[in-house]
Amino acid sequence: MPDPQYSHTPQPHLDLALALRRATAGIHAEIERLPLMVRLNSETVTLEDYRYYLQAIVTIHAPLEGALYERLDAETLQRLNIQPKLPALLADLEEQGLEAQTHRIMAMPMLMLPESRGATVGGLYVLEGATLGGRTIARHLRRFIGESLGTSRFLDFHGQQTSAAWKGFTSALNGLSAEGVLTPDAVIAGALAVFTHVHTCLERIR
Ligand code: HEM
Repeated sequence: MPDPQYSHTPQPHLDLALALRRATAGIHAEIERLPLMVRLNSETVTLEDYRYYLQAIVTIHAPLEGALYERLDAETLQRLNIQPKLPALLADLEEQGLEAQTHRIMAMPMLMLPESRGATVGGLYVLEGATLGGRTIARHLRRFIGESLGTSRFLDFHGQQTSAAWKGFTSALNGLSAEGVLTPDAVIAGALAVFTHVHTCLERIR
């Protein structure tokens, strides 16, 4: 039976996906300038840099993804048609003979995110969008590191389906916004909060 709280007033057209890209471009660029990310994208990148990146990203991703999925109602999750990426990340760690360092996960700052469906979806936009740049990074790493990179399931999460998956996600986002299920301002605020959280965490990791 449909969630009775799921009927909303349709909203005038807004390209929420585009608005999100514009609103978060600055913080995304700041993340790209962080030393860990610069190293990953350099032509002198090593397997050790990739391994270090995996250890760093799991400390941020594991609690963040868990918190966001826990907050989201089943119907919205189904509409967005997204899947958790933590299993892929853990598989990449295992492939490199590494494991998540729980004590480092505990030391990460708390996520400060308003309790709303919009803010949660904004946070999930950050995790889903990261698969776009992830594919580019995976290609770069394969070029400079070679076979020892392994399968890089997390970075290249959707593989050849990356564009199709992103199209599906952004269409669902815009559809939910047009139906009034999502409040664009809340989604954008959530995305900015999560991007800022990721930046703060990455800055702390040395
Ligand atoms: C070295 C680090 C990074 C690089 C080089 C990078 C690169 C990119 C590139 C090239 C795109 C656009 C791809 C396209 O339009 O097809 C993109 C999109 C995106 N990335 Fe990153 N990225 C990095 C790190 C991150 C991180 C850590 C996150 C968040 C956890 C993130 C979140 C996003 C999001 C949300 C988008 C989608 C933007 C949109 O079109 O709405 N990125 N990234």
